[in-house]
Amino acid sequence: MRQLNKVTFRAQQVSVMMLATALLLNACSRPATEANPQAAAQQGAIIQPANWPLQASPIARNAAIEAKVSALLAQMSVEQKVGQIIQADIASVTPQQVRDYYLGSVLNGGNSAPGRDNRVGAAAWLELADAFWQASTDTSDGRPYIPVFWGTDAVHGHSNVKGATIFAHNIGLGAMHEPELLQAIGRATAVEMQVTGLDWTFAPTIAVARDDRWGRTYESYSENPELVASYAPYILQGIQGKPGAADFLRGEHMLATVKHFLGDGGTVGGKDQGDSIDSEAQLRDIHAVPYYSAVKAGARVVMASYNSWHGSKMHGFAPMLTDVLVGRMGFDGFVVGDWNGHGQVAGCTPTDCAAALLAGLDMYMAPDSWQTLYANTLARVKAGRISMARLDEAVSRILRIKAEMGLFEQVKPSARPLAGRYELLGNAEHRALAREAARKSLVLLKNNQQLLPLKPNGRVLVAGDGADNIGKQTGGWTLSWQGSGNSNSDFPNGESIYSGIKQAVEAGGGSVELSENGRFSTQPDVAIVVFGEEPYAEFIGDRSHLAFDDNRGLQILTALKAQGIPTISVFLSGRPLWVNSELNQSDAFVAAFLPGSEGGAVADVLFRAADGSVRHDFQGRLSFSWPDNATGEPLNVGDANYNPLFAYGYGLSYSDNTTLAALHENAGISAAEMLNTSRYLYAGKAVTPWQLQLLDEGKVTVVTDATHTSANGALKAQATDRLQQEDSVTLSFIKPGAVAVSLADGAVLDLTRQANGDMALELEYQVSAMGADSAVTLGMQCGDNCAGMLDISAQLAQMQGKGWHSIKIALRCFSEADSNFAISRVTQPMRLQSSAGLVLQLANVRLAQNEGNATCGN
Ligand code: BGC
Ligand code: BGC
Repeated sequence: MRQLNKVTFRAQQVSVMMLATALLLNACSRPATEANPQAAAQQGAIIQPANWPLQASPIARNAAIEAKVSALLAQMSVEQKVGQIIQADIASVTPQQVRDYYLGSVLNGGNSAPGRDNRVGAAAWLELADAFWQASTDTSDGRPYIPVFWGTDAVHGHSNVKGATIFAHNIGLGAMHEPELLQAIGRATAVEMQVTGLDWTFAPTIAVARDDRWGRTYESYSENPELVASYAPYILQGIQGKPGAADFLRGEHMLATVKHFLGDGGTVGGKDQGDSIDSEAQLRDIHAVPYYSAVKAGARVVMASYNSWHGSKMHGFAPMLTDVLVGRMGFDGFVVGDWNGHGQVAGCTPTDCAAALLAGLDMYMAPDSWQTLYANTLARVKAGRISMARLDEAVSRILRIKAEMGLFEQVKPSARPLAGRYELLGNAEHRALAREAARKSLVLLKNNQQLLPLKPNGRVLVAGDGADNIGKQTGGWTLSWQGSGNSNSDFPNGESIYSGIKQAVEAGGGSVELSENGRFSTQPDVAIVVFGEEPYAEFIGDRSHLAFDDNRGLQILTALKAQGIPTISVFLSGRPLWVNSELNQSDAFVAAFLPGSEGGAVADVLFRAADGSVRHDFQGRLSFSWPDNATGEPLNVGDANYNPLFAYGYGLSYSDNTTLAALHENAGISAAEMLNTSRYLYAGKAVTPWQLQLLDEGKVTVVTDATHTSANGALKAQATDRLQQEDSVTLSFIKPGAVAVSLADGAVLDLTRQANGDMALELEYQVSAMGADSAVTLGMQCGDNCAGMLDISAQLAQMQGKGWHSIKIALRCFSEADSNFAISRVTQPMRLQSSAGLVLQLANVRLAQNEGNATCGN
């Protein structure tokens, strides 16, 4: 194996600019905030602003805008001011309420869309944008004219809207090492957003993810702050234009947000919304580096982060939100909160949090909490707990940006130049751009015997559950919050990886067979297996280790290798994962990350042209270090004991003739450490260390083999074929009994966050037989005499003999079913009880996002 590139890492030294201009003084003129008592009490949570580089705002205050802002402020009632600093979610607010409460902004969260339909057509977005706009701008009651604006997570293209171009997630864009392309991506995204009448995106994420167990690693361009910092100006300029230019924030441009400030990528264990115990220097020299660059490039909105630093939640941490961001970085826009993030500040709730405003938050993101928050904030102002000066300042900061955007001179959303031009969503130009970016983001990790590039005239088998699955290749934050529940038809302007391969091969005179499970009818010359992580977002994607524990891909690869078929893996993932076994079973291995809706990008690189020439070489080079074990211990370029399998910057080209020797297959963690908190039964087998147990009059039989009978003969478990050999288990209830998933040592699982995230328990099953009066309940247990069980008899009866189905029970239902049930102390995340007569075949049991299709049982 050739020596892997080791890129030396220098902590970026942000140049210190000593500019004591009037501008800067302006930016620093924020009224004094209350000291954060919690922060002062915490050892190590002391920020010394003087340690932070001083930078001036790149945007001078404009006299006309300042006059406008002051004039508005003078006209506004306190009710109008409080409304201006609150942002509500469209799922929880009506246009009339926006009017009644003078709300300054609305957002659509990852799971809210017009009419609560995540896959609704683009016209519905525009229509709703008009409704909000009109409600806010009707001045018939004498109110000042202040349009509302609408923020959305257009984090990889206008990714909440069906038909939009879906770009690769940031981790892949980082691997391109081509910041310039981000400008075009930003512009295309802004254009598509304006088609639907939206003004503002909560992007880009400029986190520096330092622990890949973090569920948001894919939102980060790189573990290297310098790379992230180099990307920020380009993506910002694409979305917003250049500060000082006539079309800055106007015309084709719109408002961006840099998030999440600060230290989101540096929490202990990679825990989302967790605590960072970095030193002040690490915070500055790693996580803040991209913010200096972004503010300089004209970032006008910064989103506060959920995380804390040495115990102090950022949403209430004045030293960062005010002293550093405003005082040192020269930020002169406004700070928006994250989804009820203010509610996590000590002493706060989502509906009451003066401390956040006092610390420097200018706009509360209060999706569903806005109404009570409004009342409480108003009361706090009236009682003097929040000074009018601080309120005025927050309002001014928001109005200033609205003025910079030209919103006061704007017409309603549907009357703007790009509005309603639906042909621009996923148009040819944007798709070509997305394909180019996806192509450049692919990283070739292994290419033994120079198997790639392939000739397009052979017989190609395309296998794996990711092959013809646009939802899987686009990942989280796509149409739905978790990116789950998508099928190919939800992407009218996208194509799967398989579809791209088919086109390339057929054009080159070859043939393609698609087979998800890898069984073929024609012996192939070569097989491309596409597999990887299921989509996820935020904390739902947090993991305690980096072992890739879905072995479907491995099974296929192993079977193909055994038949002497050369194998190419295309691995879809939101982060590097430990896949040594898969690497060993592959002759070539491509880390594709989450390439977006243009699956054709893969074939562009994998296949030669019909004339034999190479069409595109690999450009991607890892922007994250690839681990050689599954422990998940932070592994970042520049570390003292840097021991990656593939180093930061690694990636092969077609000219490289290197052989990757067989790798060790020791994960470095125990089965217990591999605990998968969201997947219990996979392909009919318990996912280690989970056990599938047969419970028969208090006696437990653990299912470890193909056939088992419970202690008193009540239950039988039999491995059965579904798609592949023995990939499901048939459970026969001869007498009443129960089956459960549990841990050997009776360990407990805390599923509170999953329940709050509206996850559901999902079973993939088939009912083979059921007695007419069978009673079946499904639920979770939390120790002896503690369970939430729901009757599912009717649902199962309906599905009897009707093939494979999935049933989803929302986690909240278990608590609703029994007030004693504790979702924080789950001992059996699945328990199924039945009377005699039921014969049930089970394939998978896992937690999945409620896509509006979860029930509470019958
Ligand atoms: C997400 C939102 C999402 C919501 C679902 C939040 O944490 O950020 O976008 O819609 O959870 O409950
Ligand atoms: C996420 C943000 C997102 C917001 C709005 C939050 O849960 O952390 O990244 O912008 O929701 O959807």
